[in-house]
Amino acid sequence: GTVVLAYSGGLDTSCILVWLKEQGYDVVAYLANIGQKEDFEAARKKALALGAKKVYIEDISKEFVEEFIWPAVQANALYEDRYLLGTALARPCIARKLVEIAQREGAQYVAHGATGKGNDQVRFELTCYALCPKIKVVAPWRLPEFYQRFPGRRELMDYAKKHGIPVPVTPQTPWSMDENLMHISYEAGILENPKNQAPPGLYTKTRDPATSPDTPDVLEIEFERGVPVKVTNAGDGATRRSALELFVYLNDIAGKHGVGRVDIVENRFVGMKSRGIYETPAGTILYHAHLDIEAFTMDREVRKIKQGLALKFSELVYNGFWHSPECEFLRECIGRSQEGVVGTVRLSVFKGQVYVLGRESPRSLYNEELVSMNVQGDYEPADATGFININSLRLKEYHRLQSKVTVK
Ligand code: ARG
Ligand code: SIN
Repeated sequence: GTVVLAYSGGLDTSCILVWLKEQGYDVVAYLANIGQKEDFEAARKKALALGAKKVYIEDISKEFVEEFIWPAVQANALYEDRYLLGTALARPCIARKLVEIAQREGAQYVAHGATGKGNDQVRFELTCYALCPKIKVVAPWRLPEFYQRFPGRRELMDYAKKHGIPVPVTPQTPWSMDENLMHISYEAGILENPKNQAPPGLYTKTRDPATSPDTPDVLEIEFERGVPVKVTNAGDGATRRSALELFVYLNDIAGKHGVGRVDIVENRFVGMKSRGIYETPAGTILYHAHLDIEAFTMDREVRKIKQGLALKFSELVYNGFWHSPECEFLRECIGRSQEGVVGTVRLSVFKGQVYVLGRESPRSLYNEELVSMNVQGDYEPADATGFININSLRLKEYHRLQSKVTVK
């Protein structure tokens, strides 16, 4: 039968392509352009040379921003308090196109190069099964006949040489990378020891904050429905409006100032802890900007509920459940909460940090007269005495009991 392979152009998926052919499949290679730096035409030639009967190179970066990154910005999505979910958001977007191509090609099978120990296999496959229940997934790294034949890098290289698969000329980095428009991740290899510091040459999307420019960039980010619609640089007046252009621009500015680096140990869905280093430049600016405009415009109690939903949303995204009923429901609720999240945040990007400088909004719930120390406004200070008295009742009772218990 025909199999559509999620192909990256790298050594692993090149070997998988040839191996699938050896097993008797017709292979259609699908390479997603999701904003990573890559020579797509070279990858196309390579896939064809290795025997792919057809190659799809699909630019999905616009849908990635608008349909996956924007909902994450609206949610302030964060996994385990630190990870902005760059890879987790990309997987359902890539896999959605994978099944679309399989359907177009009348292919019964899809294949991917994710290992059997990670999150990505779960994310790819849950999306495939959700959107095309009949699809059959070939995951070579989980097939004993594959992983016993390729227990290590050396066997893969030998196989590549034997089958005319070009092996990388530049020595491979001693870690693995996954890049898209939102972030790049570094895992495995020498990073597996969580004590080892990342070598300075590892980072590719951000400059070292220690040597970044000594003057900040000041930006104004305008939001509508919790989504950025315009970015202006207060320094040179540069303006970006479309989702993709604005996001790329923020990546440049943040990268230049070393914004968006994290080094963490996280919990994979399959049950193990893993160490990852991430760079999420634009995502980090937008996280801070959105948090600010939301706090300014959203009711306090709605915000608390929404915060709980966002925690759950982040976990679902991490675990691969983007296309689940509960995740759709959360996106609806979170989207509804964003109707009044409108306005402009002014911030400075400098030495690895994002500093909010001010904000304004036509939907602000901030009442300067009400909060002012200098004006009374529509507020009776004497009422606060009763408010505090009633609130103290419970505390008095609790501590009365405490002193009885401890004194005896
Ligand atoms: N640990 C991160 C995550 O689970 C990044 C995974 C990177 N994936 C990769 N194929 N290198 O989202
Ligand atoms: C992989 O195992 O393919 C990469 C890491 C992950 O998916 O978590």
